[in-house]
Amino acid sequence: MNHFEYHNGVLCAENVPLTQIAQEVGTPVYVYSRATLTRHYTVFADAFRSAGLDAKICYAVKANSNLAVIALLGQLGAGADVVSEGELRRALAAGIPPDRIVFSGVGKSESELRFALETGIHEINVESESEIRLLSRIAASMNVTAEIAVRVNPDVDARTHEKISTGRKENKFGIDIDRAEEIYALAASLPGLAPVTVAVHIGSQLTDLGPYRQAFRRVAQLVERLRSLGHKITRVDLGGGLGIPYDAENPPLPDAYAKMAAEEIAHLNCQVMLEPGRMIVGNAGILLSRALVVKPGEAKRFLILDAAMNDLIRPALYNGHHGLRPVKQPGADAPLMPVDVVGPVCESGDTFAKDRMLPLIEEGDLVAFGTAGAYGAVMASTYNTRLLVPEVLVDGDHYAVIRPRQTYEELIGMDRIPDWLQTGSKDHAA
Ligand code: LLP
Repeated sequence: MNHFEYHNGVLCAENVPLTQIAQEVGTPVYVYSRATLTRHYTVFADAFRSAGLDAKICYAVKANSNLAVIALLGQLGAGADVVSEGELRRALAAGIPPDRIVFSGVGKSESELRFALETGIHEINVESESEIRLLSRIAASMNVTAEIAVRVNPDVDARTHEKISTGRKENKFGIDIDRAEEIYALAASLPGLAPVTVAVHIGSQLTDLGPYRQAFRRVAQLVERLRSLGHKITRVDLGGGLGIPYDAENPPLPDAYAKMAAEEIAHLNCQVMLEPGRMIVGNAGILLSRALVVKPGEAKRFLILDAAMNDLIRPALYNGHHGLRPVKQPGADAPLMPVDVVGPVCESGDTFAKDRMLPLIEEGDLVAFGTAGAYGAVMASTYNTRLLVPEVLVDGDHYAVIRPRQTYEELIGMDRIPDWLQTGSKDHAA
């Protein structure tokens, strides 16, 4: 459920008409709903509580890392799963206490690891032998003990898009589960490390519990083997990845997911860490855009929007589907026609949807892409020197701009022309 509905013929975010946001902030713009974010987090947390698990929910900041979104979730009790020093700094800036932050990622630099240890975060999820050795050296030199999880690769097919599948042997992620005993022995033998957690994350946008169950079962078996070898494993980190409905998908509900997790791992009496991203924020956001041009092509009709692939890249990158609704409510019997919905960027890949059946949309009309709260604004770029897209958070009948639109001065002012390229300079001849 989300809070983007028509009221009096106009699509609203909670009680704010999107026409008002378009007029006051301009388009394109991402719009998030506080009520939906709150609801999704609460439903997820309640599901694990009801399943009887001691769960710590570390929101995967990469899905939507606006400080306001992180702060809101933090106030509801969420921790953060971060994958870079930048995300760690964001989580801290949003007020997430360090002891609720986990640091994941397949390649972390020495300075990132040092920063994480200085900050005193809850846990670092390591993914390679060299990272284990590096972290041990840094922790020992700082005289601290780093609680770590080893992220294992359980060799499970998540049955999702290949670009967001991470749990197969051929993927770059984690350490082969068959080598786990050897790796925990190594970690336990090195100074500065306390290997207390087994972590797993098999992919994103999973719409089936089967692969999860397989992965969690392998994790539980591993925990038992490790304990029998004397390791004090007190936590499991089950990652994120629960899918959401973009189109016709019918992903499992959090209750079923939590119940299944409990069936597989409750007997271990571990603390359970979770890293949901998309499930919390995906349906809590839309991308609001205006139709610039309606072009009746030779072969088909094009709707050219002021939003482009640089603002929302999922369709171009993953063939991702995002529902599209006109902001002005069409009549119940309005005829539908096939339209290619595209952006103004200079490549054919800048296509949001092909042959989408839509009611008549005219130049100047507003439209909203649904399910755009996750991996939308965070993946935006300034390609074609387009301004970074702004973000708005709605709360009931008011809203706040939580990231203003960039200005051309800010964007172009990032660049520097070296002295030796300045007109009249002779330096280059030296
Ligand atoms: N934990 C780890 C270790 C991850 O790598 C990810 C996502 C998550 C948690 C959160 O997964 P979620 O619950 O959001 O599915 N840009 C792609 C998705 C990339 C996901 C990367 N890792 C997309 O737009 O579909």
